[in-house]
Amino acid sequence: MQIGICGLGTVGSGAFNLISGNGQEMKRRIGRELTIAQVGCRRDHPDCDLSSTNVTRDIFDVVKNPEVDIVLELIGGTDDALKLVMEAISNKKHVVTANKALIAEHGDEIFGAASKRGVQVRFEAAIAGGIPIVKAIREGLAANRVEWVAGIINGTSNYILTEMSEPGRNLAFADVLKDAQDLGYAEADPTFDVEGIDAAHKLTILSSIAFGVPLRFDAIYTEGISGITSEDIGYARELGYTIRHLGVTRNLEDSVELRVHPCLVANSHMLAQVNGVMNAVMVGSDAAGATMYYGAGAGSGPTASAVLGDVIDIVRTDGVHSVANLGFMPETLEPKRVMEIQEFEGSAYLRLVVSDEPGVMARISTILGQYKISIEALIQKDARGGDAHVVIITNSVLEKSLNDAMQELAGLDETKGDIARIRVADFS
Ligand code: HSE
Repeated sequence: MQIGICGLGTVGSGAFNLISGNGQEMKRRIGRELTIAQVGCRRDHPDCDLSSTNVTRDIFDVVKNPEVDIVLELIGGTDDALKLVMEAISNKKHVVTANKALIAEHGDEIFGAASKRGVQVRFEAAIAGGIPIVKAIREGLAANRVEWVAGIINGTSNYILTEMSEPGRNLAFADVLKDAQDLGYAEADPTFDVEGIDAAHKLTILSSIAFGVPLRFDAIYTEGISGITSEDIGYARELGYTIRHLGVTRNLEDSVELRVHPCLVANSHMLAQVNGVMNAVMVGSDAAGATMYYGAGAGSGPTASAVLGDVIDIVRTDGVHSVANLGFMPETLEPKRVMEIQEFEGSAYLRLVVSDEPGVMARISTILGQYKISIEALIQKDARGGDAHVVIITNSVLEKSLNDAMQELAGLDETKGDIARIRVADFS
């Protein structure tokens, strides 16, 4: 089996170098040498010695090359990537991709075509970098009914939140993001990371392989970290929490919960200890109970490790399909309603900026009381210019009621600007 690499960026260069660096170790495992028939890339990569490699500037040459058996789609994006993958499949080539957007948005079409042509499409590298989470859920936990999956699945966001949490450093959001880009963690368009879209792509796939439901990227609730301030991080810390960007999906009786957004995580919880570019995914299942998987969620080496793990699986099975793409027989995928975020019930952190006048606190608690929202914790701090910051943790409340209450609170004469709301994670 010969490999064709399309794209020589962070992941492609990592895969190229891993094949040469660990080739002998892989041969000990699979009894064969992995060879690269061709690399398609717009420009060379400074870390890759391409002197003895067949290189083309047109990635479509790779999927046409009769010597190539396995195409590594590592170009990213969805337009060219979809064309490339569909052409590879129609030319009867197996595909390994790190492209979560492609799978979350076009997985049905791709898997359908692959099944007709009898080739494999593998995507371990699409989720959580070096953590073999697809394998863990699709194979290791295959005997379970999976109940929920929750995790930190965007390395860039976690890196930014961790850096912003460093006491006294007061780092600007833009500078930390620039570091994440320089380190090769961020997407080509970093708004995908900071606005939660990358995590939404990954959670969409995780939800499907966990519960056997169709891919529903169109219905996922998505919120990123761009509205999180260092003040919120500081107040959360005072209250015993760490702010993390989480993806959470639950398999309920008649619906599926599917949401990515920032959360307050109790400091004592393991997910609060996940720092920097690290990812962690927890899976709740009926027989195995809760299991947790931790590792680098982005970067050249970790993602290349996942790509080559998939290549090895294809070689080991001689390309004969051994596991359904989403882990369930396609005809058994069970369409379920995706829960609207307004139906979600949980505690929340609220931060209001109000003018520091007598009676304001009473008015705030009256409005909350009208919506049957009680206050579990409260802090008040003087802010600049005679304003006060009021920070509240509510009891568990229906999101719709909280939205209505927040609208009334925003309408008070004393309220200045927007009210910040961050959901509190509940793993019970
Ligand atoms: N931009 C992604 C992240 C890369 O930061 O997690 C890995 O998918």
